[in-house]
Amino acid sequence: MANQGFLLASVLFSCLVAACYGVTFSSLQKTLLVTASPTQGQVLKAGKDSITVTWSLNTTVPAGADSTYKTVSVKLCYAPVSQKDRGWRKTVDDLKKDKTCQHDIVTRQYSASGSDNTVTWIVERDVPTATYFVRAYAENSEKAKVAFGQTTDSNKTTNLFQIQSVSGRHVSLDISAVCFSAFSIISLFGFFFVEKRKMKASQQK
Ligand SMILES: *[C@@H]1O[C@H](CO)[C@@H](O)[C@H](O)[C@H]1NC(C)=O
Repeated sequence: MANQGFLLASVLFSCLVAACYGVTFSSLQKTLLVTASPTQGQVLKAGKDSITVTWSLNTTVPAGADSTYKTVSVKLCYAPVSQKDRGWRKTVDDLKKDKTCQHDIVTRQYSASGSDNTVTWIVERDVPTATYFVRAYAENSEKAKVAFGQTTDSNKTTNLFQIQSVSGRHVSLDISAVCFSAFSIISLFGFFFVEKRKMKASQQK
């Protein structure tokens, strides 16, 4: 009877923790090994360069640790240096509110290892200029995050890379600015030329 009461209490408590407060990042187990192709400090161009990410289960974790894993979602995440003074990229322990990893790379069926555990992703054009790392979350059948792995250390200071956005809007703005300047110069010269011709013509009269 006492045991059942304890069981009920702990079930209720874990429901409260899970449902009311959401899953926290600090509660996740780090069981995935994640590697990505960019080297420390490398600069990649959005819309052009690609990132190859590979993940697998850390083989030293106890057997069965991954029994609830259903899918793996791989994400591009902001490094602390690119979160400073930017509330919209803030790291919050409650994963429902966390804004660290805003760009999805891929979501796949979970497998401990294998050829399906790798992806080559061309950095999307809408990815802003910033410093990043890659994180993978393992999710259970309810899509709740249960474990993770990342390319950087726990302080998010190693293996960081940069993405530079090459916005098409800026390029066309530059082009129109150049065209406009050229047009002004040509019309200025044209104006002088016409004026000179007019002056010559009036002097010859
Ligand atoms: C794998 O897990 C073990 C035990 O948790 C840990 O000590 C080790 O650092 C992990 N390996 C890597 C490469 O992260």
